[in-house]
Amino acid sequence: MLIAGNWKMNTNAASAVELAQGIIQESADAAAVRVAVCPPAPFLSGVRAALKGSRVRLGAQNMYWADHGAFTGEVSAQMLLSVGCHYVILGHSERRQHFGETDGGVSSKVKQAVRTGLIPIICVGERLNHRKTGKEQQVVATQVKHALEDLKKIQSPSSLVIAYEPVWAIGTGETATPEQAQTMHRFIRSLVSRQFGKNFASGLHILYGGSMKPSNAKDLLRQKDVDGGLIGGASLKSEVFGQIIHAAQEVQQG
Ligand code: PGA
Repeated sequence: MLIAGNWKMNTNAASAVELAQGIIQESADAAAVRVAVCPPAPFLSGVRAALKGSRVRLGAQNMYWADHGAFTGEVSAQMLLSVGCHYVILGHSERRQHFGETDGGVSSKVKQAVRTGLIPIICVGERLNHRKTGKEQQVVATQVKHALEDLKKIQSPSSLVIAYEPVWAIGTGETATPEQAQTMHRFIRSLVSRQFGKNFASGLHILYGGSMKPSNAKDLLRQKDVDGGLIGGASLKSEVFGQIIHAAQEVQQG
């Protein structure tokens, strides 16, 4: 089980470190759960120092696919690795929606992350109109297919993570029902199984994201194919995020 906090464009240098310290405390007695935090890029180094010696891992919210060069404003996978990142969120719907990120771009970034040893948390998810017209699986299948394109050499399912985040549930307070989440997660696993085989697919972490909070976390995390959560709003207070971590710990321990 993996519980990852996506802090988005929130916190400052001091409050990011404070939040990280709180999360270290909250996760200290939840050894069965893998915990990660994804602060804004300027605070990665500071948060890394705060996380030193703890079980909480560091992730970034985006990167570019080139190694280095004239790409003003961008950060590379190597830069993220050099400040201690394990994970990088890629293809988040907010990036697709506000920054013109395409399936092709996400695919290049995923390839670069995997090549350099950074674990991409690949976000996929349909919009409300897709779900209303019964196209949710078609949309997610296209996103997954592009994101995993040409990843032939990948051996271990722990080299990547997929997050199913229905766009209509992100930051809206509206959550997919546990059944809706389970249906889509099982579908995603079947797509991965077709490309990489059954063993790979069964070892892959598929996270749910979209208004996950303490009150709904357990029901979502109990679903067979839900292996954790990518949490936005509810990851910005360590006690609240801690409740989700503990819910995951309880589910994990049966
Ligand atoms: P939310 O965001 O938990 O605030 O809905 C989740 C995400 O966008 O990763």
